[in-house]
Amino acid sequence: MKKVWIAYILITVLSVQNMAVAKPEYLDVFTSVYKTNTEKLADRSCANCHVSVSEYGLNPYGKQIAHELVTANTRTLTADILHRVETMFAFQDGTTNLEKITGGLPPGEAKPGSTAKTTITESAVSPAPPKSVIPKNVFHPAIVHFPIALFIAGLFLDFIGWRKKQHTMLMAGWYNLVFAAVSTVGSIGSGLLAMFNMHLPFKGLIFTHLILASIASVLMWMLVALRIHRHEKMDTSLRVVYYVLAFATVILISYSAHLGGAFVYGE
Ligand code: HEC
Repeated sequence: MKKVWIAYILITVLSVQNMAVAKPEYLDVFTSVYKTNTEKLADRSCANCHVSVSEYGLNPYGKQIAHELVTANTRTLTADILHRVETMFAFQDGTTNLEKITGGLPPGEAKPGSTAKTTITESAVSPAPPKSVIPKNVFHPAIVHFPIALFIAGLFLDFIGWRKKQHTMLMAGWYNLVFAAVSTVGSIGSGLLAMFNMHLPFKGLIFTHLILASIASVLMWMLVALRIHRHEKMDTSLRVVYYVLAFATVILISYSAHLGGAFVYGE
């Protein structure tokens, strides 16, 4: 019992200590390292490194510090870490971070009057994402290949079966179509989960992606409905409707996949 208590106290002390190391203390380290313009720096307070005093997203300068912290594998801001980012440019304005700080300018903004962009690319600063057996994207990028591959292969088999009057081919095509339609449910489900997991907003590119993919799914189910119990009995005009719809589905699904890819890999 005693051991459990000791362990409990140790864990508590360690976690409280860990909390104490966190963020707002960074301001003290910062102002004590840069004494030249302490007043201005103190005035700007947390906004030296954050978006504003009430919004704690990191500004480009803060991101450079965060990157150094990650590289040094520490959560304690030291003078050394601050010195490492001094010669860096948070913006493409030809002014180093240190020049801004000693000049009393906010290090997290471009030079006054300059519209220079930040030098920070997101991938350069985000710390390695926590590893989990189930990734945040819930395997969505892998799952989506099922409906696409099954659907296109299914159409192909179906077409051959129809032209050559081969029942087996027709049925193979039919099953591919059904599995494709079923797998769209998994694709959309995993996509939605990924959106929630990553806190993606229901707007913009990724929203268009979702809408297009959903329409493609509905179209696939319509194709299933057209085909069911008909197979060889589909007359030519129904076949034409069927292939027009299928063609529209292929276009939609390709464009939707392109948007999804653009979202993941950037354009
Ligand atoms: C010298 C730059 C600097 C200053 C000044 C600074 N911070 Fe930070 N802050 C950071 C960095 C870098 C991180 C992210 C790295 C980390 O979590 O250790 C961070 C993270 C945070 C976080 C996020 C915590 C988390 O775990 O997600 C909060 C909240 C925060 N700071 C609050 C403040 C407040 C409040 C102030 C002002 C009193 C302040 N910070 C001043 C650099 C700074």
